[in-house]
Amino acid sequence: MEVLTPSQQEAVHPPVADATMSDLAFYHASEGKPLATPWQVAMVRAKAVAEFNLPRGVLLDCACGSGIQLAAYASQLKMPALGIELDRDRAIASCLNLNTIAKRFHTFDQGWHRRSSILAGDGTASEEVIQSVDIEAMGGISFLHLDPARPRNSRTHGLDEMQPNLSSVFQAWKPYLAESSRGPSIVLDLSPRLTDERRQEVESLVEEVWPGIERTWTWMSRGGGRVDRLELWLGNVSTKGISKRFVRLAPTVGAANSVIEQREVETTTEHHSLLTARRNEWVTILDAALVESGLADAWISEQLSTAANVRWADSSPRRPRIHHNGPLKNPHHPFVQATGRVVELLDKPLDEENIDEIVSTALENDISAMTIRMSLDASLQPKLQGNIDRQLKRRQGRRKAFLTKHTSSNHLLFCVQMGEKSDQ
Ligand SMILES: C[S@@+](CC[C@H](N)C(=O)[O-])C[C@H]1O[C@@H](n2cnc3c(N)ncnc32)[C@H](O)[C@@H]1O
Repeated sequence: MEVLTPSQQEAVHPPVADATMSDLAFYHASEGKPLATPWQVAMVRAKAVAEFNLPRGVLLDCACGSGIQLAAYASQLKMPALGIELDRDRAIASCLNLNTIAKRFHTFDQGWHRRSSILAGDGTASEEVIQSVDIEAMGGISFLHLDPARPRNSRTHGLDEMQPNLSSVFQAWKPYLAESSRGPSIVLDLSPRLTDERRQEVESLVEEVWPGIERTWTWMSRGGGRVDRLELWLGNVSTKGISKRFVRLAPTVGAANSVIEQREVETTTEHHSLLTARRNEWVTILDAALVESGLADAWISEQLSTAANVRWADSSPRRPRIHHNGPLKNPHHPFVQATGRVVELLDKPLDEENIDEIVSTALENDISAMTIRMSLDASLQPKLQGNIDRQLKRRQGRRKAFLTKHTSSNHLLFCVQMGEKSDQ
């Protein structure tokens, strides 16, 4: 096990700009860039961990890759980092990235940075690590982060594909992790594609090692309806009484993120499916990542009273849609792709033959701009959207709208959006 002191390492290759923060550049080696955590994600986590009272000691990342997550933790918590990385060149990249972040926060070779080290070796070989660094003198291990490597084209997302694997890491580090009254402090950064079944497997592994430990699952999305990260926060860093959380990151670093949480004992909402679509009801297309996380009901109950009688339209997973009576409390909420009131239904397919009639219907309803929000042939979509835009621009409509299709029939729904000069 080779111990590397960050401040003594020198760069061989130039750094590469971070995807989320253009004035920051990080070092990568052995094609480690796609594995690295974007700075925005790393900082959101670090700030969230800083909300908890961590025991004294070092922050351990036992598969630290380019060390970006570790650098975010150490700089925010002002605690020394201990990174372990199998690939020696990546371990050096981790050192360089710790240096970059220390310089950014004016702590180079001081405080946490001076006491941080990176080891090139196996992150499950805890005994060897303990012999190489005097962890006791540093107050023990305060916190464990694990972001295992996964095969890029995995079909199964099986737990046995994770490198290093969860069981080996748990067994190796359990004796050394400082415990608070709520157990150890652990964040597992898992594959966003884990199925519910795999999540259960993770829970069982955790339960075997730390029976009864509290846990909070966290889904993170950077937009586009995609889940980008799935994490399990354990013990001292789990949120009391919260079993699931969905975080939609703000478009810019540092701006407020949108969060929805689900309490442990949640009454499961019955999903009424949609049979008919009616004029004057409301249609909302939701963030697909929110729906994938299983937290849509928790969010809907914040936005709509039971009197709104929510019906689910099982449209394409890309555009999950609900119908309801009455508007959302916040139609501009980041979890909303589009929301509007149905002002017209038309029993016609959306195609070139019918486009003029569709535009006339929009005009009769005082619509000035209308976005297509339904699945269409990829080559047809821009043609039809262009046609709608051109025709509406020349006329005097006042309301903004979107066009979607009812699931169980061919009806097109003209939905007028709230706000501006729209649905008054
Ligand atoms: C997904 S990356 C971590 C990225 C990191 N979170 C970041 O912010 O840059 C996972 C890393 O685990 C390393 N790894 C795999 N097996 C390991 C082991 N047994 N011990 C230490 N590192 C290991 C891989 O080389 C890879 O760099």
